[in-house]
Amino acid sequence: MSNSISELKALDAECLWHPLTQHRNIEVTPPRFIERGEGCFIYDADGNRWLDGTSGLWCVNVGHGREELADVAREQMAKLSYAPMTMTHEPAIRLAAKLVDLLGYPGRVYFTNSGSEANEAAFKMARQFQAQREDGIGGPGRYKIIARHRGYHGNTMGALSATGQWERREGYEPLLPGFVFTDAPDPYRGINDCADRLEETILHEGPETVAAFIMEPVIAGGGVLIPPDDYLPKVREICTRYGVLLILDEVVSGFGRTGKMFAHQHWGVEADIITFAKGIASGYMPIAALVARRDVFEAFDGEAESGRHFRHVNTYGGHPVATAVALRNLEIVEREQLVERVNVVGKTVLTKLQRQLAGHPNVGEVRGKGLLVGVELVSDLQSKKPAANEKVGGIVRKCGELGVIIGRTTPVTPGQANIVIVAPPYVISDDEAALLVDTLVAGIESQFPRA
Ligand SMILES: Cc1ncc(COP(=O)(O)O)c(C=O)c1O
Repeated sequence: MSNSISELKALDAECLWHPLTQHRNIEVTPPRFIERGEGCFIYDADGNRWLDGTSGLWCVNVGHGREELADVAREQMAKLSYAPMTMTHEPAIRLAAKLVDLLGYPGRVYFTNSGSEANEAAFKMARQFQAQREDGIGGPGRYKIIARHRGYHGNTMGALSATGQWERREGYEPLLPGFVFTDAPDPYRGINDCADRLEETILHEGPETVAAFIMEPVIAGGGVLIPPDDYLPKVREICTRYGVLLILDEVVSGFGRTGKMFAHQHWGVEADIITFAKGIASGYMPIAALVARRDVFEAFDGEAESGRHFRHVNTYGGHPVATAVALRNLEIVEREQLVERVNVVGKTVLTKLQRQLAGHPNVGEVRGKGLLVGVELVSDLQSKKPAANEKVGGIVRKCGELGVIIGRTTPVTPGQANIVIVAPPYVISDDEAALLVDTLVAGIESQFPRA
């Protein structure tokens, strides 16, 4: 434990394999060695600090360094550090009740450890539900999952099979059979009739073969794609009409990120299964969950030996420490009225960016919902050709040099990775928000100077 920082960095270079990282040049551009976080800032071992404009990987919604959450974790670990969810305990019960209460409609909570696993569980649940439902609509032949181009649902083989992003899939194929894609709305590029396209896809596949449709209410990593207002209500109606379960992936958008507790509440619809992760515990603990509507749960009812129960388990789902921390995290979101704050500061960030980037010949669109804001960069406004990958990377690098971490899309198709993204902690102050906006504009102008 007494290694110096330089020794630790050398050990990192020798022993660690970092995600999404090419290691060949890692000694020239090593990963930031982060030692601590406080509020919206993270600090490295050399005393440098960055404004965390992406809340880590879109998760540290209540900000870094909350002693209160550390205290809850310590107390819970000392009292009960582990019990599987084949048993039960107070923090899991209270968190489940809280989730159902926040959703506002009846459901059953199933805990997992990550967003990917929540989606895996949702797919298995959907297939088993369809095989067991007794209303004459289902059957074991309903196994297909329809997902969307540009959506992201995770890194495990099922969740990746439902992911419509080229770079994530490339080289790992063939992925699982039974996953089918349809388009997601992209109003900037004139793609708007996507509920009709979903219906065509269901009819083309045969409704009697389709178990579920999965979508992010607002596509996050795929480019901050905000659907037209009539999209989700139409999707809900189509899924109901054809007996297809609607799975909403609120892994990023859940718990206030878009200005409502859950993004689907913007459009007044109810899902059949909703998956959560990230903001549920603001990244203080790895925890995820899904909530299934009561009628989905009821299809699993049967005699003890019937095998109709959900035959799925994970060691750490519903972990006492993780659920205790998540519960307190949600209490903080409510107590400090952070969703209200998201709306206020989100509007400021969006309008300031729109104002400062107005008329820029390479800025196709500045769009956002709550504190999820994207800037789409193009080589020219007429063709809307996506800006070059290196230039977009240059913006991220420049902002980093200026002390602000921003995000960007991965290539959703070859050559299309042209959206930079900010999603800061909800506790961001007005001054910090101004720093975020000014730095992002400076980053963009460093790569795309105005003539
Ligand atoms: C929308 C969405 N769903 C699922 C996931 C997967 O979550 P995890 O990385 O916790 O497995 C992510 C991760 O970024 C995500 O953005």
